[in-house]
Amino acid sequence: QRQWDHDYYQLMEKTAQFYQQQLKQPKFRERVVTYLKDRGVSGEIARDYGLGYAPDEWHSLQALFGHDQSINKALVDCGMLIEKDSNRYDRFRDRLMFPIRDRRGRVIAFGGRVIDKGEPKYLNSPETEIFHKGQELYGLYEMRQFQRKSEWAVVVEGYMDVVALAQFGIRNAVATLGTATSSTHIQQLFRVCPKIVFCFDGDRAGRDAALRALNHSLPQVRDNRDIRFMFLPDGEDPDTQVRRIGAEQFTQDALKSPSIFEFLLDYLRGQVDMDTFEGPGQLANLAKPFLALIADAIHRERFIQQLAMQVGLSETKLNQLLLGADSSSG
Ligand code: CTP
Ligand code: MN
Ligand code: MN
Ligand code: MN
Ligand code: MN
Repeated sequence: QRQWDHDYYQLMEKTAQFYQQQLKQPKFRERVVTYLKDRGVSGEIARDYGLGYAPDEWHSLQALFGHDQSINKALVDCGMLIEKDSNRYDRFRDRLMFPIRDRRGRVIAFGGRVIDKGEPKYLNSPETEIFHKGQELYGLYEMRQFQRKSEWAVVVEGYMDVVALAQFGIRNAVATLGTATSSTHIQQLFRVCPKIVFCFDGDRAGRDAALRALNHSLPQVRDNRDIRFMFLPDGEDPDTQVRRIGAEQFTQDALKSPSIFEFLLDYLRGQVDMDTFEGPGQLANLAKPFLALIADAIHRERFIQQLAMQVGLSETKLNQLLLGADSSSG
């Protein structure tokens, strides 16, 4: 471990505490706490997730840390200050702040949401020496603080989804931070629980995210692992959904949602019309790249059997089509 790592973590922790304190400042309190209350977030959950507020100022961090050059340089490296020409100023201003912690609980980045309306809705820390976006899961540390081992975890898109689910007692939600689910994300989760339920927004972006998660999950299918995909009604996200239907129903829906192979089967069937002459060939073309991702041979064979049955082909016929299929398509 390099010396600067240690310094960066200290700066980030101190910044997180500063943002948390700002929430209690009388001049900000009303606006920000009202916003949290309107969104149904209690003081307890805000504390558990370390939520804070970055004041509407250009130099609040320099006021906090002073003008020491090496500290200021480190704050730039951590993505907290933006350097432009010879000026440095706060990246996050007038935003609700979500500290992102690594597995060990160290603050490595922030997400900042505008209060009410404004663009961009979320501003995130850039990739830095201590923050590798594709590898971190928002809420994983907090989930494990609550309970060391859990039966399952639910993967969502947004910070507020994690916080809202926690508010409803579903403390096992993690978010992918606006990036695609990566293999590293899935590996990390399987280290702490045997069952993962992906639950993205009920919109186009959410459905695309589910397909990408499917692609990264297929290589990791094994015995004693359960991967499911929960689809929300159009326009809902986990935050709005849990408020609508409650924690018990949400949990029930999550645990009974389609398995990874049911999702893949439905997806493939939805893409081709088996009643046409080209249907079976198209299905084979489309299925082949997915099948190639299933590293576990037994699960792959079992899926081919199911697929053949579901589309009304014999297994022999489907295997023939797959042999002749163009694996570059799909
Ligand atoms: N996101 C982002 N930058 C944006 C928009 C979104 O990084 N400009 C990321 C954030 O991590 C966000 C997630 O993508 O939480 C999902 O986006 P979206 O569904 O639009 O936001 P919500 O999480 O639903 O936010 P809210 O409920 O606060 O509106
Ligand atoms: Mn690193
Ligand atoms: Mn969305
Ligand atoms: Mn939302
Ligand atoms: Mn959303």
